[in-house]
Amino acid sequence: MSSIDATATVQEYYGKTLQTSADLKTSACCTPDAMPEFVKPLLARIHDEVVNRYYGCGLVVPTALDGARVLDIGSGSGRDAYLLAQLVGEWGEVVGVDMTAEQLAVARSHVEWHREQFGFTRANTRFLEGFIEKLSELPLEPHSFDVVVSNCVVNLSRQASGLCRRATSAQGGRRDVFLRCLLRPSSAGGRAQSPCALYGECLGGALYWNDFLGMAKAAGFGDPRLVTSRPLEILDPELKAALGQAKFYSATYRLFAIDGLEPLCEDYGQAVIYRGGALGEEECFILDGHHAIEQGRVFPVCGNTWRMLQDTRFAPYFDFIGNFDRHFGIFPGCGTLNPLEPVAGAVTAVACC
Ligand SMILES: C[S@@+](CC[C@H](N)C(=O)[O-])C[C@H]1O[C@@H](n2cnc3c(N)ncnc32)[C@H](O)[C@@H]1O
Repeated sequence: MSSIDATATVQEYYGKTLQTSADLKTSACCTPDAMPEFVKPLLARIHDEVVNRYYGCGLVVPTALDGARVLDIGSGSGRDAYLLAQLVGEWGEVVGVDMTAEQLAVARSHVEWHREQFGFTRANTRFLEGFIEKLSELPLEPHSFDVVVSNCVVNLSRQASGLCRRATSAQGGRRDVFLRCLLRPSSAGGRAQSPCALYGECLGGALYWNDFLGMAKAAGFGDPRLVTSRPLEILDPELKAALGQAKFYSATYRLFAIDGLEPLCEDYGQAVIYRGGALGEEECFILDGHHAIEQGRVFPVCGNTWRMLQDTRFAPYFDFIGNFDRHFGIFPGCGTLNPLEPVAGAVTAVACC
């Protein structure tokens, strides 16, 4: 499929074929994730028409957003944008970008309704028509976003690798990208091309997880962090047959573009103490799937995690112990083994020179 055909397919699919989430042929764009309690009342305040045309594949709710400027790439009917609009507050802003006119029309028609619903004196949400591959052509102030979010869109872009890069480029976020996408456990078969629903619902464009990590790293996001993932259920029998044994996972990644992130997690004897206070994570701050940081506890961290907490909007929520003066080797807590350590019971050939 050419990139023009792919764009037209996606626009047709989300603009005309689908009318509500109930029309979806797979569970790719549904969200059976457990909904955190603090999110429920926020969702309840969003207009039904917006919610009914939600096609995301998971919850995309970064923490500590008060006052932040958020860019939602592939914002669809605006469900996530209106959810995050409540978290950034009246003086923060959420900007959604999407290429499908019908989805944009729904999102835009409820800006004023949500302003009133949230009790804000100014509307803090707006939507721009455009391609996420061409963010620089949109009227967006360079480097003006604190966070970029994206829900089930990367898989639809024919230029997924460039997309990662653009997310931090001039119009993108300075530090933090929080995205949900579909990944595959192997690259067998490449990116499938058809049928339309397969591509439209992200399955055809699902990336092999390690290719995705390579793209993110090449785009300047050292040490991508997996926040959550779940296996995907293919419900439609025809699609199931077309996919054979292929497996898919819906995954949320947190990507940081911070100077100094190292390829592996290194131990400098550092630790952090979470002071508490982040909305919805008052007692335990979830940085990613390996870092649930309880409030008040001295929590040893690698140099990368230290930077992710100290060089970002999360810093006010933490006390920091230590520095980078002394290196103690690889950090054991991030799942990285020292490749030079002999494995017990293995026969080791020793080369001397
Ligand atoms: C699976 S839907 C998700 C929509 C929204 N994030 C949500 O959670 O409901 C994918 C959306 O991405 C948009 N999209 C896909 N490729 C795009 C591109 N290259 N530029 C702009 N929007 C794109 C589609 O128009 C569609 O609205």
